[in-house]
Amino acid sequence: MEKLVVKGGCRLKGTARVSGAKNAVLPIIAASVLGMEQSTILEVPELEDVRTICKVLECLGLKVDMSVPHRLKIDSRKITSWEAPYELVSTMRASFLVMGSLLARVGRAKISQPGGCAIGTRPIDIHLKGFEALGAEIRQGHGYIEASAPHGLVGTTIYLDFPSVGATENLIMAASMAKGTTIIENAAQEPEIVDLANYVNVMGGKVRGAGTTSIRIDGVEAMKGGEHTVIPDRIEAGTYMVAGAMTHGDIVVDNVLCEHMKPLIAKLREAGAIVEENINSVHVVGPEQLKAITVKTLPYPGFPTDMQAQVMAMMCISKGQSSVLETVFENRFMHVDELLRMGADIRTNGGRAAIVEGVDKLYGCQVRATDLRAGAAMVLAGLVADGTTYITDIHHIDRGYENLVEKFTGLGATIQRITE
Ligand code: EPZ
Repeated sequence: MEKLVVKGGCRLKGTARVSGAKNAVLPIIAASVLGMEQSTILEVPELEDVRTICKVLECLGLKVDMSVPHRLKIDSRKITSWEAPYELVSTMRASFLVMGSLLARVGRAKISQPGGCAIGTRPIDIHLKGFEALGAEIRQGHGYIEASAPHGLVGTTIYLDFPSVGATENLIMAASMAKGTTIIENAAQEPEIVDLANYVNVMGGKVRGAGTTSIRIDGVEAMKGGEHTVIPDRIEAGTYMVAGAMTHGDIVVDNVLCEHMKPLIAKLREAGAIVEENINSVHVVGPEQLKAITVKTLPYPGFPTDMQAQVMAMMCISKGQSSVLETVFENRFMHVDELLRMGADIRTNGGRAAIVEGVDKLYGCQVRATDLRAGAAMVLAGLVADGTTYITDIHHIDRGYENLVEKFTGLGATIQRITE
């Protein structure tokens, strides 16, 4: 079994470069199904989730060339299947994002029902309601969801009950070749939505208003291929920024779009860190003693739920009482038990609220990565703990962090991956 071994007590110094955004590249790869020509995608992070969705595309008959690191060449001229199998969708629920592009391209899709995960049941009702509004017929059974639109989809106005990131992305793709215009109201505004829209437009789509709560998509006859460079990963960037703040460090995080980082930058400054925003990077100097803060996670442009676990690790050693309210997912406190094992003082109400009393120090021990961002939080806690921390189930971390050991080592951390 693979483990991460993290030695505590180092002050990070140096520069780490952020990779392309996982949560942008996954819908962008799914959107390449729309195109009738070859697409090239650059700044692709080398992640397990990327490999999985590329396997899904290959199941559909597309040709995916991953021979050059960080570059994907996708030939979507021929589609030989419209079915995404259980064994792939069950390993990565974002595979469900091919439903919208398959419906638009071939008028049908059969996707294994995406399961829940550690952080929640992850329903897809908003996706399905949107597809039906566009005229698709949805059938569910035997663990699969089938959608069909034999006469094509027809544009309409869709109001999302919740600004779901995935539903917004799936519906942009489905509407891209519908007859007429689609308006998505109460749409998610995440930067990854804007990046997807930019790629769809490069392929010949007509998407306007991405990044706002109202997105207009004018259906086109057919889509071409295109070249697109993926935006930097704001959550990976935030993870390293928190590490610099927690370790009383002095680091530069390179390849960062600061306008995507506003909520986190504000919270790090409240906690006493110095944060200098540059054109393409951010400089973080951690204070001698961090101060307690309050965080409420919200859809963008609010504080990102994907940074909640990492910031809670920082709260554990911040002087005073911090609090967290997780409004996006119903079970995103799996990291609390693991932080408690390290000596943290955290009380939750069994739901979405947590109170964190700062302690003088955490103690290294054996902990688990219960999910992707909880795993990242364990690494951060290990960096400041007294002694050595052993983190298991690190396949979760590999899903979202490219070269994590190398990047932290480059910042002066004592961290290694061992196989027992
Ligand atoms: C995306 O997931 C991200 N994943 C998540 O990142 C991120 O946490 C989430 O957006 C919120 O920002 C990818 O982009 C691949 P949602 P997604 O649909 O699209 C409820 C990470 O760590 N909901 O915005 O699945 C849902 O249950 C991952 O990188 C419905 O009720 O998120 C949740 O409570 C974790 N019905 C809330 O909305 C639906 O049909 C937000 O989900 C869809 C969602």
